[in-house]
Amino acid sequence: MPIIGLGTWQINGEDLEISLEAALESGYRSIDTATIYQNEDVIGRVVKKWIDAGKLKREELYIVTKLPPCFMRPEDVEPCLRSSLEKLQLDYVDLYLIHVPFGFKNVDGQMVPVTELGVVDLDMNTDHLAIWKMMEEMVDKHLTRDIGLSNFNIPQIRRVLSRSRIPPANLQVELHVLNQQNELVNYCKRNHISVTSYSTFASPGCKPFFDSIGIEVYIPDLFSDPVVKKIAETHGKNPAQVLLRHMAQKGIAVIPKSKNPDRVKSNFDIFDFVLNDDEMKQLNNLNADPPIRVVDMTMFPG
Ligand SMILES: NC(=O)c1ccc[n+]([C@@H]2O[C@H](COP(=O)([O-])OP(=O)(O)OC[C@H]3O[C@@H](n4cnc5c(N)ncnc54)[C@H](OP(=O)(O)O)[C@@H]3O)[C@@H](O)[C@H]2O)c1
Repeated sequence: MPIIGLGTWQINGEDLEISLEAALESGYRSIDTATIYQNEDVIGRVVKKWIDAGKLKREELYIVTKLPPCFMRPEDVEPCLRSSLEKLQLDYVDLYLIHVPFGFKNVDGQMVPVTELGVVDLDMNTDHLAIWKMMEEMVDKHLTRDIGLSNFNIPQIRRVLSRSRIPPANLQVELHVLNQQNELVNYCKRNHISVTSYSTFASPGCKPFFDSIGIEVYIPDLFSDPVVKKIAETHGKNPAQVLLRHMAQKGIAVIPKSKNPDRVKSNFDIFDFVLNDDEMKQLNNLNADPPIRVVDMTMFPG
């Protein structure tokens, strides 16, 4: 998979069209979406436009989408993936991820069903192994090329891996300098599972979202970190580029999101400099103990 892709959480409509156009113009070929982002149709429209115009071939793209928690049952996997494909106007995706290790009840397909008590209507019978078997069938049916996991921890991955016919190709988790999850990353490397960092900037734009659902969240300002700033100055790059380069240089894919076309372009511009061993060490040493996690799933009370 490409080492860099475009993230698309909390972006939709015209903003997403502009961002995606800028990304494709800049050279991005990987796009990260999810059923729960409810923007697959916009991505499908833009991608089709590019393919129809002969500016892009399907096989040049790497499209990732995810099984949402409300469809965490074996019988829901195929209809959900087929619905994503319809919206994306594609015959297959490149990577299909299980979005989170927990499930919600399927209440008329609501993305986040809520009980009368105001908490999320959880499905306590979620069965990772049964779902994984169905994920494997999606590969057999050529509806996705690869399958993987997101937000799973080591025991959960180990269990899937031990019973899989087709092993997970990728794990997507929150990874940034203050939350480097070394044990998890090393476990994946040992088991030939590629890793994708989400929220590489610690998701600085997600505060309004958390505010809107009444959840207090601490978002560290990684762009102002003195170590990051100093290294950026040394290379004539900006802090965002250093944060992305740090992950990429560790062999971890990045999927930064931006609705600003200039930022989309500059986030891709990380291939003309190399961080030296000392700089990598300084950035590795920013890892916080305990780690600072932004997307900690408290957005789903219950
Ligand atoms: N699997 C999961 O559970 C999961 C969870 C979270 C995220 N993700 C995926 O990972 C992607 C990235 O994570 P994220 O969206 O949480 O956060 P992120 O990429 O860490 O940060 C995005 C924020 O940074 C700002 N930004 C982007 N480039 C910048 C730059 N060069 N300089 C200054 N600010 C910049 C953006 O603002 P502007 O838009 O205003 O530029 C936006 O507010 C998501 O979009 C999604 O695809 C997956």
